[in-house]
Amino acid sequence: MQLEEAGFLRVEETEAWPTEPGRYYLIRGGSLVAWSTESDLPGSPFRIVGGHTDSPNLRVKQHPDLESAGLQMVGLEPYGGAWLNSWLDRDLGISGRLSVRDGNGLREVLVKVDEPILRVPQLAIHLSEDRKGVTLDPQRHVNAIWGVGNSPRSFLGYVAEREGVDPSSVLGWELMTHDLAPSAVVGVENELVSAPRLDNQGTCYAGTQALLAAVENPTAVTPVLALFDHEEVGSMSDRGAFSDLLTTVLERIVLGRGGGREEFLRTMAGSICASGDMAHATHPNYPDRHEPAHRIELGGGPVLKVNQNLRYATDSAGAGAFALACDQAGVPLQRYVHRADLPCGSTIGPITASRTGLSTVDVGAAQLAMHSSRELMSASDITAYSDALAAFLMPSGPVSA
Ligand code: CO
Repeated sequence: MQLEEAGFLRVEETEAWPTEPGRYYLIRGGSLVAWSTESDLPGSPFRIVGGHTDSPNLRVKQHPDLESAGLQMVGLEPYGGAWLNSWLDRDLGISGRLSVRDGNGLREVLVKVDEPILRVPQLAIHLSEDRKGVTLDPQRHVNAIWGVGNSPRSFLGYVAEREGVDPSSVLGWELMTHDLAPSAVVGVENELVSAPRLDNQGTCYAGTQALLAAVENPTAVTPVLALFDHEEVGSMSDRGAFSDLLTTVLERIVLGRGGGREEFLRTMAGSICASGDMAHATHPNYPDRHEPAHRIELGGGPVLKVNQNLRYATDSAGAGAFALACDQAGVPLQRYVHRADLPCGSTIGPITASRTGLSTVDVGAAQLAMHSSRELMSASDITAYSDALAAFLMPSGPVSA
């Protein structure tokens, strides 16, 4: 893992917090927070880049074994706002975690099967009513085929055995599917990246690069990367953006450097968060779906997202801080506004802002096909986005929000 290679040490929440300045990270389920206290001074404000680790997909039900039309099926259902059509006719692998009985306790076993085990076939066009396609029902139309014949087979048993676990010892599980087609650099001049989960691995990657750059060039702030699970289903969990994860880490950083509650609150008041999530580029085939005066280009640089109904948390001060970071990084900035007559998506930004009281700006990199199993972005935006977030994490001017 890149953070460990750069000297980040894992901290356990159940153990005493480190008091030595250093580089640390913490994992809670599918969420991760990483930070450096190497340049900490009393009262050093936080500069935070936030994002989410999860992506919409198809997940395995609790009783997955089905049989239909002489085929063995695995019962799946959508997680988050998956664009269901994009999951059809793809070779799907399996990943997730098992909770396995271990003596009188439990242990966690991570699952990753990168082989084409599952497939959700479309209906043939000749069988659709008007040859214009079908409306997909998330209850009936996304179950996967994984075998032929009527002899019953246990999907969970199969996964357990693949991971070297006795099937009868599996007491809990979270299992999901992923498209196996490798990511690709595409376009006549290799300008584009085609990949799954760009929303929001694009930010996880850029944020990690930014933190690694920031710890090599310390400034008078504490740089923090906070990547949350469960954004695509509302963030309301023990590790989602609604949880105490970020505030707990930030407070323990201040306590670890010998500060108290007063110093923590003072530090928070001077801190700022960039909530990173991918942004909608203007679609060339559907330009009318976009706000005409706010065209967002692939390759046009990072995107600042503003919404008057606070689906994005950006305020004037946050916008200014990110625009300044882009200027210092030497990258262009694009400004996104959703069409006023369409419902706007959201991010962790409004949630962390309201949970923490931090001044927050919603930012991102442009992409097409958001929530498809396969998304598209510009290769140059990855660097520009990383550079902008790095500049945000190492402000050279006055640092308070
Ligand atoms: Co997202």
